[in-house]
Amino acid sequence: MDDRLQVRSMVDARHGRVKPQIYADPEIYQLELERVFARSWLFLAHESMLPKAGDFFTTSMGEDPVVVVRQKDGSLQAYLNQCRHRGMRLCHADGGNTKAFTCPYHGWAYGLDGGLTSVPLEEQAYRNQLDKSRWGLTRVPRLATYKGLVFGNWDESAPSLEAYMGDMAWYLDGFLDRRAGGTEVLGGIHKWVIDCNWKFAAEQFCSDQYHAPYTHASAVQVLQASPANKSDGKPLGEGQTARPVWADALGGVQFGGQGHGSAFFFTEKPDANVWVDGAVSAYFRDTYPEAEARLGKVRALRLAGHNTLFPTLSWLNGTQTLRVWHPRGPNKIEVWAFCLCDREAPAEVKDALIKSHARAFGPAGFLEQDDSENWVEVQKVLQGHKARQTEFCMEMGLGHEARRADGIPGVTNYTFAETAARGFYQHWANMMSAENWDEIQALNASYEKELVHE
Ligand code: FES
Ligand SMILES: [Fe+2]
Repeated sequence: MDDRLQVRSMVDARHGRVKPQIYADPEIYQLELERVFARSWLFLAHESMLPKAGDFFTTSMGEDPVVVVRQKDGSLQAYLNQCRHRGMRLCHADGGNTKAFTCPYHGWAYGLDGGLTSVPLEEQAYRNQLDKSRWGLTRVPRLATYKGLVFGNWDESAPSLEAYMGDMAWYLDGFLDRRAGGTEVLGGIHKWVIDCNWKFAAEQFCSDQYHAPYTHASAVQVLQASPANKSDGKPLGEGQTARPVWADALGGVQFGGQGHGSAFFFTEKPDANVWVDGAVSAYFRDTYPEAEARLGKVRALRLAGHNTLFPTLSWLNGTQTLRVWHPRGPNKIEVWAFCLCDREAPAEVKDALIKSHARAFGPAGFLEQDDSENWVEVQKVLQGHKARQTEFCMEMGLGHEARRADGIPGVTNYTFAETAARGFYQHWANMMSAENWDEIQALNASYEKELVHE
């Protein structure tokens, strides 16, 4: 059977079934690099990280290393971080400012615009016969910025970034657009490795509200009991039990569409987030009127929950973690965690936020470790032959999808559901099997049409 059709048969989103081979098979992984990562819009950097001409940042698109560079005219470009002579990694720094990139192997040098500018011994070794104009760096052909986030795409025929995001932009705005001035990245980036497939992390952030009460139960008990994390600033009274955010939640929503997903609780409290320091929750309270004026009540109040922009960009409102799950083989990811803050926030709030962020979602964060422990163990189980053949159940909320009349866009469900997870895998299977973007979009549209009977 054609390998693409075979992959397609491993996902049955209409009945909520997935074959776990998709998380462990090296051939499927190679096909993902080509069909998913070389055709999707991938997050590269935040504009605040590259303010001046010559500023650069190195990252990767799938496993392809790239360097993003601020040009002299203020625009951005991104290139494959690979020297054209023998393929050496050209730039080894995480980021910085430069006038040129010089390869450490034989010394070829490239300008900010990616052009090859100088070659050692050009006269003697190349007899001045090398046409340097044809040996510039390989440019990422599509680059687009959305409210400070810079994305790249290798596929010239991909839809625009806005069309690719679709309804997910509405949910993303709740993270990026709370205040005038937008957002910035605070401090450096936490980077670490987890031995699991990238889809476990991306899918959990897309859809899985269900794990939080159980996986994070002990962390929530401890946090909720701390006066610093209670909006009234008072310790728990004797005999009082901490109530997690979901106990007081007034229901919630899960959205899934085009592979993206978002899930959260409704609340009436502008600081209903137990994961951040008191100074940060006070900031959310103080700035609530501005956020409500810009975003409306639902998104301004929404400070907890999960989000993934397919395939590998995830974020959590409130703790302000923005992360990329860089794939590193079928059984490994490199997590890059950025702390995103409103640019207009006072310095002491930024300081408190970056500490809260590290405490909850840094590599040793108490919530982070709960999550990664699960993914690593599932991946270990999948070393077994039988385990890789045994279907997973993804049926939660199946058949209860609906469109809402209150302005919350897209196909939605109750917050505890697997609508976004099913949509994530359906889109993944469509990308893995379709020849081009027209076909991917047609397959997505017919799937979504079946979900909601209008
Ligand atoms: S590999 Fe870069 S100069 Fe030779
Ligand atoms: Fe979690």
